[in-house]
Amino acid sequence: MTIDDVRQHRDWANDLDHADPEYNRNAPEVWEHLRESGCPVAHSDLYGGMWAPVTHELVKEVAYDTDHFSSQGVIVSNARPIIEAPVGPAPPITSDPPFHQIARRLLLPPFAPKQIDPWEKEIRTLCRGLLDEMGEIDEGTTIIDAAVQYAQHIPVNVIARMIGLPTTDDELFRGFVHAVLEAVDLPAEERIAAIEPLAEYLDAKVAEHQANPRDNLLDYLLNVEIEGNKLSSEHVRGSVLLLLIAGIDTTWSAIGSSLWHLGTHADDLARLVAEPDLMPFAIEEFLRAYAPVTMARLVKEDYDFHGCPMKANDWVLLPFPAANRDPEEFEDANEVILDRKENRHSAFGLGIHRCLGSNLARLELRVAVEEFIARFPSFELAGDMTWSVGQVRGPRVMPFRVLKVNPAHTGS
Ligand code: HEM
Repeated sequence: MTIDDVRQHRDWANDLDHADPEYNRNAPEVWEHLRESGCPVAHSDLYGGMWAPVTHELVKEVAYDTDHFSSQGVIVSNARPIIEAPVGPAPPITSDPPFHQIARRLLLPPFAPKQIDPWEKEIRTLCRGLLDEMGEIDEGTTIIDAAVQYAQHIPVNVIARMIGLPTTDDELFRGFVHAVLEAVDLPAEERIAAIEPLAEYLDAKVAEHQANPRDNLLDYLLNVEIEGNKLSSEHVRGSVLLLLIAGIDTTWSAIGSSLWHLGTHADDLARLVAEPDLMPFAIEEFLRAYAPVTMARLVKEDYDFHGCPMKANDWVLLPFPAANRDPEEFEDANEVILDRKENRHSAFGLGIHRCLGSNLARLELRVAVEEFIARFPSFELAGDMTWSVGQVRGPRVMPFRVLKVNPAHTGS
C-alpha cells in the first residue's frame, strides 16, 4: 500500500485497530501518517477503549509512568486480566511496583550473559540443521520459506530446552502464542476459554517437575525463594508462561524481519556478506527498524494525558517500534543504515520492564542471520509474504528464491 492507500483504509487516528491485518503490513506508513497529520496519540473505541501514542517522547513518558499506567494487562483484548495487580497473571511483566522488582530480580541470573553465551554453539547447530533440512537447492530456482522452515523453529526450540519443556511440543507452543497474541479480538469469554489449555498444560508440567526434579529453569523457579518463601504455583506458572510466550515469537519475528530486509535489499545483503564485522551494528539496526514488540498498559484512574481524556481501564498501546521510527529521535528514521553508529533504540522497551531476555534474543538473532547468509549469500523475496497480526510484528510466510549456495557451508 502507498501512504495514500493507508490513509484511505481507515481512520487510524480515531479508529485505530492494531489487529487489522493492514496495520502490521503497513505499520511504518501508519505511524508516519499519524505523525504527519499531527496526531501523536491515536484513539479507538475498540477493546473497551484504547489509546496509542506514536512519538518516542510520549511512548517513553507512558513507559516510565507507573503511577498512572499499570502493567497488569500488557496484551490488548476485550477481556481484562483475571489475576490483578501488583502480581498479575505473568510476573514480572504483568507486575507493578513494588512487587515487580522482586519478581524481576529472580529472573535476572538465568538470563545473564554468563548463562546465555554458552548456548551459542547449540543455536548454531540448530540453525545449520534447519538449513540442511531444506534439502537440495538449485541456485536461481529453489524457493524456500525462511519464516516457516527457519525463523519460527529457532527461538521455540531454545526456550523450550531452557525451561525444560519437550521441544516436540513446538507446534502446540506456537498455537498458544497465536491464542495469546493474535486472537485478541475475540469476545472476552471466548478469549479466556482459548487461553485455558495453556494454563492447564503448564499446571501439568509444574506438577511433573515438582514430582520429578530436574536441572532447568522451571526447577530453578520451583526452588528459588522470596524472603525465605518458595514461589506460589501460580507465580511459577505465570513466569513460565511469560518466558514461553516472550521467548518465542518476539525473536522469531526479529529473525524473520531481518531476513526480509536482506531478501528485499540486495545491496545490504551483499555488503553484510562482504563485511562480517558490520554484523553487530546491523543487528541493532534491524532491531531498531523492525522492532517486533508493542506492549500495552491499563490506565489506573481517569487521567488527562496531554489533552487525551483517558478513562480508568482504557488500554494504552506502547508501540516501541513506532518510537524507533520517530524522525525527532533518529536521523533518517525510515532508512535502514547497516552501520548506524548512534542507535539507542527502544526495541527492548523503556523503563522498569525493559526486556530481560535481550542477551538471548540478540544471540539468537545474530547467529540465525549469520548462518542463513553464510549458507545462502544471495537470495530474494519470491512471492507474497504474510505478516503476523497484533502486538508482535513479523513475517509468518516469506518465500525466498535462493540465488547462491555457499558450497563450503553445506552440511552441519
Ligand atoms: C527480539 C526479541 C525480543 C524483543 C524485541 C523483546 C522486547 C521486549 C519488550 C519491549 C519488553 C518490555 C515489556 C513492557 O514494557 O511491558 C520485554 C520484556 C520482557 N522480555 Fe523481551 N523481547 C524479546 C525477546 C525475549 C526473550 C528471548 C525473552 C526470554 C525468554 C524475553 C523475556 C522478557 C521478559 C521476562 C520481560 C519482562 C521484564 C519485566 O517485566 O521486568 N524477551 N521484552
